[in-house]
Amino acid sequence: MRVLVAYGTKNGSTGEIAEMVGGTLRDDGFEVEVQPAGEVRSVEGYDAVILGGGLYAGRWPRAAGRFAKRFGPRLTGRPVWVFSSGPLDRSADEGDIPPTPFVAKRLTMLGARAHVTFGGALGEDARGFLAKAMVRNGKGGDFRNHERIEAWAGEISAALGGRPAAPGVVTART
Ligand SMILES: Cc1cc2nc3c(=O)[nH]c(=O)nc-3n(C[C@H](O)[C@H](O)[C@H](O)COP(=O)(O)O)c2cc1C
Repeated sequence: MRVLVAYGTKNGSTGEIAEMVGGTLRDDGFEVEVQPAGEVRSVEGYDAVILGGGLYAGRWPRAAGRFAKRFGPRLTGRPVWVFSSGPLDRSADEGDIPPTPFVAKRLTMLGARAHVTFGGALGEDARGFLAKAMVRNGKGGDFRNHERIEAWAGEISAALGGRPAAPGVVTART
C-alpha cells in the first residue's frame, strides 16, 4: 500500500512531523513518500493521503491550502487524514483542539476522515519579523509530542490494515 504524506511549512517543523508520521507507517510496512505539498504533481497511485500544515494566524502556508483545493476532488473515495501543527504551549496535549475555520474548509474539500492538532515549534532560526519577535519574547520552543504523533500515525496504520486496532481507539472519525 502506498501512502503520501504532504505538508505545508514556513519554518520546517511541520515537515519533521510529517517525517515522523511517515516513519511510523514505514515501520508498519507501508510504502511512504513524504513531500512538501507544493512539490506534489499527482496523487495517482496512492492508496491513502495525509496532509499537514503549520498554523499561521489560523491558516496554513499557501502550498498546503492549494493542495486541498487541487487534489480534493481527485481523492474522492480514498482515505485522507489531516493534521495541523501550531500551539506553542502544552494545550495540544491537554485536549482536542478543533480545526480552525480555514482548516475545516480544507477538511471538507478533502473529504478527510479526521483531523488532529499537534503542538508546534518555533526556534532561533525562524524566518520573518513576527516569528523572530515571538522567539525573542520567549514565546518559542518545541512543543511537538512525539508519542502523540506516533500514536496518531498508529491509528492511521490500523485503519489501513497495517496493525491491529488498539482497543477503544476510534480510527474512522469523520
Ligand atoms: C507569525 C506566527 C503566527 C502563528 N499563528 C499561529 C496560530 O494561529 N495558531 C497556532 O496554533 N500557532 C501559530 N503559530 C505557531 C506555529 O504554527 C508553529 O510555530 C508551527 O510549528 C510552525 O510550523 P512550521 O515550522 O512548519 O512553519 C504562529 C507562529 C508564527 C511565527
